[in-house]
Amino acid sequence: MLHVFALVLAASAASAQTSPNAQLVQELLQADPAARHSNNIVQDALLDAPGLIRKYGYPVEVHNIVTADGYIVQAHRIPHGRDANNRPGPRPVVLVMHGLMCSSADFLVLGPGNALAYVLAEAGYDVWLANARGNYYSRRHIFLDPNDREGLEFWKFSWDEIGNLDLPALVNFIIANTGQQKMHYIGHSQGTTTFLVLNSLRPEFNEKFISFQALAPSAYVEHNENKLREIMVQFESVLESVAFSLGFGEAMGGEGWRQIFTALGLTLCNDQSFLQPLCVFAILGAGEIENFNKTMLPVIVGHNPAGAAIRQIIHYGQVLRFNRFARYNHANPLTNLAEYGSLTPPEYDLSRVTVPAYLHYGKNDAQSDYRDVLLLGERLGNTIGVYPIERETFNHFDFIWGGDVRTQLYDKLVDIMRSAERALDQNS
Ligand SMILES: *[C@@H]1O[C@H](CO)[C@@H](O)[C@H](O)[C@H]1NC(C)=O
Repeated sequence: MLHVFALVLAASAASAQTSPNAQLVQELLQADPAARHSNNIVQDALLDAPGLIRKYGYPVEVHNIVTADGYIVQAHRIPHGRDANNRPGPRPVVLVMHGLMCSSADFLVLGPGNALAYVLAEAGYDVWLANARGNYYSRRHIFLDPNDREGLEFWKFSWDEIGNLDLPALVNFIIANTGQQKMHYIGHSQGTTTFLVLNSLRPEFNEKFISFQALAPSAYVEHNENKLREIMVQFESVLESVAFSLGFGEAMGGEGWRQIFTALGLTLCNDQSFLQPLCVFAILGAGEIENFNKTMLPVIVGHNPAGAAIRQIIHYGQVLRFNRFARYNHANPLTNLAEYGSLTPPEYDLSRVTVPAYLHYGKNDAQSDYRDVLLLGERLGNTIGVYPIERETFNHFDFIWGGDVRTQLYDKLVDIMRSAERALDQNS
């Protein structure tokens, strides 16, 4: 979601000065006759992820998991299905990780029958939806304060830490809780980046996964035609210090922003609003939207963006700028030296990622160019397959919001996961 970068910076700058309040949200909602929306759209925009799961009759557990460096990350578990496979019991586990500025809600907003989390639960999986540190559900730490604008200590992390520290805590917790020694991993976009970080930095984790299902994988950007590249070349090195000195380390997160976006989504993005096309553009850029159900927009905006650290965005900027998939480049090279033992950050060694990998790409995905996905497939230690989505216009957001994503991808994903389980049984 790099294209929202400018918007993010502007919005974060604004958030440093004004704190959105519930009053404004109430006024916005009152100005809009509720009759404009079906009850479901309003409800689903206002409910949080566990609330959505509960509303649709699925079992849900909320787990708060403490990382080695004290962040408290939240996982939402759907232990079994509602209509099929609907009794408790040991089931194959799948850990699902969202993309940049997103949350566990990505895999729920399309609702039962369409959203990935429900499809997996009905197919017989024990579904664990992760939330990365700093997002709406994981904005907590055992002693650091995310709202402290002085030191901003809470916000000094990128997706390197999410892969290196959040994922191990989640994986170890799930193993202890379920007794299952291995699990599938599904990541979307940044959720794939963090998996590569984990298994390249800590290869002992490879054996804990049955398969890696990479949806719109993000690592190499050699073919990315993002205009941000030129901006990053000029400004990347000063972005962090400028952002931190202005007092913000966070991009559009927390309760205040969530309320504002929810209210804006319900009032401006509904089917009757003449501004709906603008909402589409704000969320998807100029992307292809033929299979995107616009009626769902208020629900999507009710859950996105879900916040992130500025450094996560800057770290992607560095990948673009240096054309290297490497660890975070600190502004002061001496910090690099202290942390990595070298003045420039080392590249992630993807040959160390040996989990059976299945890469799924859209041919119209501007954020994860298919040529870079093919390159990743060549460099990973154990690529089993690289799969194009059939529809030519399938883009980055169709993976989570596409009206046809179940038939284009999710059903096939379940088949592939089952075949990976069979392969594992045969080898053991
Ligand atoms: C779009 O979403 C609305 C609200 O969930 C639903 O009623 C409608 O059937 C959907 N349209 C299509 C084409 O799927």
